[in-house]
Amino acid sequence: MREPAPAAPGRFITFEGGEGAGKSTQVRRLRERLGALGIDAVATREPGGSTGAEIVRHLILSGAAKPLGPLAEAALFAAARADHLDATIRPALERGSWVICDRFADSTRVYQGVLGNVDPRLIAELEAVTVGETRPDLTLVLDLPAEEGLTRAAARSGAGADRFESESLSFHRSLRDAFRNLAAREPERCVLIDARADIDTVAEEVWRAVADRLQPPAPAGIGPT
Ligand code: TYD
Repeated sequence: MREPAPAAPGRFITFEGGEGAGKSTQVRRLRERLGALGIDAVATREPGGSTGAEIVRHLILSGAAKPLGPLAEAALFAAARADHLDATIRPALERGSWVICDRFADSTRVYQGVLGNVDPRLIAELEAVTVGETRPDLTLVLDLPAEEGLTRAAARSGAGADRFESESLSFHRSLRDAFRNLAAREPERCVLIDARADIDTVAEEVWRAVADRLQPPAPAGIGPT
């Protein structure tokens, strides 16, 4: 008897960028667009995306872990990520779904590594043991001036700015620079997207990057015969 063909491995796409860049909207738009092609795509986010990781999310974003410092926060993000990968991301990829994740390991590199001054060797080690081979196939870095992003984020969260939204403007400017540098250093994986444009224009840019880099299959009945 023939073995059933293994499911085609899914693709792993991450969105990164500063606050208020519109990542969650673009995650949703991309999932819908893939869905219209008949591709099952799971939308998820970090910190969070699994039961254990959502608990850690609360611990970090409430600011409760802030007194422990950026090193402890990096370890907590890594612990949340390990659970998220095991419970959500790897099972989805193995069954052939695409995974679209709002933030991933690049956020730890930038927020805790560059901005928090945690030793880059430790950040790299944490990434190696948690992420392993499950690296993103494509990372879309949504780029926006810090002032604009903070204004958008404030409109969204009102007085309830979270642990990182409440950092200074210079923190958010450095954040933007760090994400831009990261995208420039890894052009084979990362695409920088200008997030100042309206939602539809950004969604088109995102789609162009996905179509160019990952060549999603055409829906059945369309394409070469
Ligand atoms: P979230 O409410 O998900 O906001 P955003 O829309 O900005 O993604 O908050 C996540 C916050 O956690 C965000 O400020 C970035 C930060 N963060 C890190 O500092 N390190 C990490 O590894 C991750 C995943 C997020």
